[in-house]
Amino acid sequence: MGLSFDLGTPINTALFVYILYSVQRIIFPSVSQPKTIPNEFKAGYSWMPKVHPPTVLFKIYTPKTLEPFSGKDGGRILLAINGTVFDVTAGRNFYGPNGMYGNFAGRDASRGMAKQSFDLEMLTPIDEPLDTLEDLKPDEIDNMKGWIEHFSNKYIICGRLVNNDAV
Ligand SMILES: *[C@@H]1O[C@H](CO)[C@@H](O)[C@H](O)[C@H]1NC(C)=O
Repeated sequence: MGLSFDLGTPINTALFVYILYSVQRIIFPSVSQPKTIPNEFKAGYSWMPKVHPPTVLFKIYTPKTLEPFSGKDGGRILLAINGTVFDVTAGRNFYGPNGMYGNFAGRDASRGMAKQSFDLEMLTPIDEPLDTLEDLKPDEIDNMKGWIEHFSNKYIICGRLVNNDAV
């Protein structure tokens, strides 16, 4: 009765190997990693990212189609600078209806950004041709460039602004 666990017998050997294997699985759990990240649907995904990245559609906007994105309805907030449309929804405190730059929501903000003025007269009426910005002075163009850089780092570029009659 002394030594009942005897590696000499086949059953105990199998049991011992199984125990070793189980312990090994506990200490080194196998984490299944995809060899390649699937990019199309075949028979079904065996792996999915934890969070799907937000999808932003790049679109062409005109002053009239941009205007509804003012955030007044609680929805997305877009604004344009020098023809590039940014989604600034994440900055609702600044660009939303009660924000300091709220006038720019849904609009071409180029002139205001260039002149560091957030007044309504900086805005071109939405049924008029786009502001050509031709009269801007070099330092005003620099201001605008600074804002474009800031926006490019912080927000998502989601389209281009063109004239109402261009689409
Ligand atoms: C504004 O847009 C025009 C035309 O796309 C471009 O030539 C110019 O460099 C831009 N200005 C700035 C400050 O980005």
